Amino acid sequence: MPIYLDQPKKKSFNGIRWLLTTVGLISLLYITNSIYRLYDNASFHSYDKSSKLPPNPFKDKARLKPTNSKAFDILNDFKYREKSLKFLQDAIKIPTEVFDDSIHPNKDLKDWSKFLEFHKYLEKSFPLVFSKLQVTKINKLGLIIEYPGLKPDLKPLVLTAHQDVVPVDIDSLDRWSYPPFDAVFDGEYLWGRGSGDTKSLLIGLFETFELLLQDDFQPNRTIIISAGYDEESIGRYDGAVSLSAWLEEKYGEAYALVDEGGAVSQVKGVENHYFAQPGIVEKGYIDVYFELFVEGGHSSIPFDHSAIGITSDLVRYIENDPYNATLTADNPILYYFRSLAEIEQFDIDDELRHQFLHAQYDDEARDGLLSYLTSSRTTEYTVKTSQAIDIIHAGVKINAIPEYLKLGINHRIALGSTVDDILNNLISKTREISEKFNLDLYLQNNSIIIENDNSQGSFNISWNQPINPSPISNTLGDKTWEIFASSIKSTFEENILPKNSTLDVVPNLVVAYTDSSRYYGLTNNIYRFSGHISPFFNSHAINEHIKFDGHIETIAYLYDYIQTVQEFDS
Ligand SMILES: *[C@@H]1O[C@H](CO)[C@@H](O)[C@H](O)[C@H]1NC(C)=O
Ligand SMILES: *[C@@H]1O[C@H](CO)[C@@H](O)[C@H](O)[C@H]1NC(C)=O
Ligand SMILES: *[C@@H]1O[C@H](CO)[C@@H](O)[C@H](O)[C@H]1NC(C)=O
Ligand SMILES: *[C@@H]1O[C@H](CO)[C@@H](O)[C@H](O)[C@H]1NC(C)=O
Ligand SMILES: *[C@@H]1O[C@H](CO)[C@@H](O)[C@H](O)[C@H]1NC(C)=O
Repeated sequence: MPIYLDQPKKKSFNGIRWLLTTVGLISLLYITNSIYRLYDNASFHSYDKSSKLPPNPFKDKARLKPTNSKAFDILNDFKYREKSLKFLQDAIKIPTEVFDDSIHPNKDLKDWSKFLEFHKYLEKSFPLVFSKLQVTKINKLGLIIEYPGLKPDLKPLVLTAHQDVVPVDIDSLDRWSYPPFDAVFDGEYLWGRGSGDTKSLLIGLFETFELLLQDDFQPNRTIIISAGYDEESIGRYDGAVSLSAWLEEKYGEAYALVDEGGAVSQVKGVENHYFAQPGIVEKGYIDVYFELFVEGGHSSIPFDHSAIGITSDLVRYIENDPYNATLTADNPILYYFRSLAEIEQFDIDDELRHQFLHAQYDDEARDGLLSYLTSSRTTEYTVKTSQAIDIIHAGVKINAIPEYLKLGINHRIALGSTVDDILNNLISKTREISEKFNLDLYLQNNSIIIENDNSQGSFNISWNQPINPSPISNTLGDKTWEIFASSIKSTFEENILPKNSTLDVVPNLVVAYTDSSRYYGLTNNIYRFSGHISPFFNSHAINEHIKFDGHIETIAYLYDYIQTVQEFDS
């Protein structure tokens, strides 16, 4: 999933965008309606500009450090570090690439042999996990590891990460600094496909469980690793969906679900101030395909408009009427900007600072912030549905009129919009084009939008992977969130950040798909956070690599988070 954008090279690059893009995801925050309760029912409309802003509930959190904290030891044990490096290298060396055209694992495993090899590696590397805990395979490839709690009436804590990685394009091999599955460690960075996305987290989970078992840890609350196998194919082989259904069947509800996502980063230009940005909301998703069937023939006597010409009309129409950006007062993105603007040393001009601070309470300030966001491609899609025309296939020969065309458009659906909004927009535009060129129009669910006896051909619209934008995870006033945020604050401030640093845990928005989107039925405490400050680079791209320290940071955070839940919430 995560889009880890490179740090921009341009000197003039704006600080806010730098922060937005280098935290790992384009990340913004989201809040629950409960926020209003904190303000004595004061809505933003009744806010008086001359008065002080209500307190920012994401600032000045307490730290929660468990008695059995082990973060310091994990971070400073050089023997363990070497062992951990080997675990992660061995994991990267098994190319668990997931492709879009494989056979479903329930039918045949011939396309999935690397995953079986990967399971063998896990069994060998984490013997306590596999001998002492209950391991269940779902669809043969999904893994559920249950670390049973002493108190079965408590809802389980579910930790998830996917086993699959994005395939490497063979034609790109010569552009990799190190072969993608050699897992070369250069003393600082670990190179390879999957190093960041997301084997660091996945192996971190197994390492943490193995450490807990070595320490004879007995959880009160059951803790579960749930590891899917098709996240990079947007769940097309029923990975996380089946894991989630199994967990729901057995447990009903989970205490919380933690998945890959945001990281920790320094506030640009401000010494000793950092943000941790767990994702608490995720954009939706849908791929839409348009097939056009028309009469073919000899190119010497063509029709006025070929399938390609007609579809060009449609594409132009769609691209020239993009989705509108929206930012409502209850959008948690606003807390991110406010938290930023509250840092005095953060260098922005006065007008922008005013807009950042007041956007929750003042329509004008919010409009200003919206214009600011939409002025750049790197930020505009935090507030806007994206549409990318990614596929067009037509024509086989230069002297034959194509009889078939296929167009594919990918969408990431903004908060406040739905799958139906996207489909309705596309159906209505295709209807106009179909009328113009006298074509029938069908939908994949056999709906007939237009049908004529004398039509010149037909469009067929189909779609897959429709996912609405996520619910907003619980934050303010929610104990599970408070424990999570206070644990991160403790782990990082006390063990990882430079002494005397401040960390604010500011929730954010995930623009890309994660497996979390399949677990909405299990809990509303979903936090997408990978738990490192050391940067990860080039996810999904050539030369994916991570600063290896980040892997150890993840384990330190996971171990202490589990201990914090144990001590303060079970
Ligand atoms: C965006 O807003 C304009 C003006 O309200 C509207 O005409 C247009 O259809 C909207 N675009 C989409 C894709 O909804
Ligand atoms: C439209 O496409 C869907 C999905 O490919 C297919 O199931 C359906 O039969 C098609 N309908 C027509 C009328 O071509
Ligand atoms: C087919 O899908 C469209 C778009 O979601 C919807 O408007 C329509 O009601 C559906 N038709 C049937 C027969 O399910
Ligand atoms: C820590 O920060 C406080 C407040 O900013 C400052 O007074 C103190 O000198 C700092 N201590 C160190 C060791 O930097
Ligand atoms: C949870 O387990 C710990 C021991 O690991 C125990 O000290 C604590 O009392 C338990 N919590 C509750 C609420 O019983």
